[in-house]
Amino acid sequence: MFETLKPQPVDKILALMQMYRDDPRPVKVDLGVGVYKDASGLTPVMRAVKAAEHWIWENQDTKVYTGLTGHPAFADAMIDLVLADAVARDKIAAAATPGGTGAVRQAFELIRMANPEARVFVSDPTWPNHLSILDYVRIEAVSYRYFDEASRGVDLDGMLEDLKQVQKGDVVLLHGCCHNPTGANLNPVEWDAVIEVLLATGAIPMIDIAYQGFGEGLEQDAAATRKVAAAVPECLIVASCSKNFGIYRERTGLLMVISADASAQTLNQGTLAFLNRQNFSFPPDHGARIVSTILTDPALRQDWQEELEAVRNTMLGLRRQLADELQRLSGSDRFAFLAQHRGMFSRLGTSPDKVEALRVEHGIYMVGDSRMNIAGLNDETVPVLAKAIIDVEV
Ligand code: LMR
Repeated sequence: MFETLKPQPVDKILALMQMYRDDPRPVKVDLGVGVYKDASGLTPVMRAVKAAEHWIWENQDTKVYTGLTGHPAFADAMIDLVLADAVARDKIAAAATPGGTGAVRQAFELIRMANPEARVFVSDPTWPNHLSILDYVRIEAVSYRYFDEASRGVDLDGMLEDLKQVQKGDVVLLHGCCHNPTGANLNPVEWDAVIEVLLATGAIPMIDIAYQGFGEGLEQDAAATRKVAAAVPECLIVASCSKNFGIYRERTGLLMVISADASAQTLNQGTLAFLNRQNFSFPPDHGARIVSTILTDPALRQDWQEELEAVRNTMLGLRRQLADELQRLSGSDRFAFLAQHRGMFSRLGTSPDKVEALRVEHGIYMVGDSRMNIAGLNDETVPVLAKAIIDVEV
């Protein structure tokens, strides 16, 4: 039977990770997969995470199943982190999922269950796995303009024009902050314009917030998500704890479904439990418990926020350093956008053959669309990258 299987496309981001590992050259720079690395190239376990794990190890007396939608304390803590008091708690159904990707997958399944005709509008470009999962669950994806190749900022006019094609019953997927893969983000006024279109069309927003705390700060990064969620009657939010808690392999995410009124919450919550049961039954608990332990303990929370803030500032420093170095080498401001972008990524905005040349000639690994993970840099590799960018005439 299995001889009927066809080879599946390899995920380009994950394939790049393997290519980098297999490269024997001593000098190589990994700007591929979205993982934070410190100056020595290590992805550290955060202090508060270690402390929470220690606490759990000492205090947890059972590993028996939690609920189908996870431990309620995790959902409560995450809802508070992402939404604060933007939406009444009794309108929010929530389910813990295996990572942010699990939340994306469950959200798409929920959309298909609720409206088999729904289309999902995605930014051009978006995280490639959004498209891959949409295709897999057989939901039509429609691109809206987002990235302006010339300015490396957001093409707001193009975006708004394309979003006007959205119909009631469609879903608009938005990145809450730190757009992946471009690093170009909407400002608060531009978010207002997007909300206006959402309200006018009756489309449902789905906000993917995977990098809260990596852009302008924990609160600022959630501001757009809160504003959208408060403005529209129904909304989906998918949050990841992989990056801001550094617990990538623990697979910790949350899907939130906001309904127009509290009476729909019970139905939504039951549907989320059903979906979890069909796909994996109980969601992983260890990462979720780490997160709820940290968020509900004032000292741990404080320490986590400080470390996250240090991570954010390191990335900002690297952005500035790279933009300055490129300014010096090129004698122009054409790379100034690197300091304006926010989050882990920046799209350099160059052709696949230049990306290839950077890898082959300089051992610099970035995704084929020229997405760079800024956190993959350090003081020593910033000048190496800048020189290589000038060398291949990006
Ligand atoms: C990325 O975009 O690099 C991350 O979200 C990791 C992944 O799973 O692709």
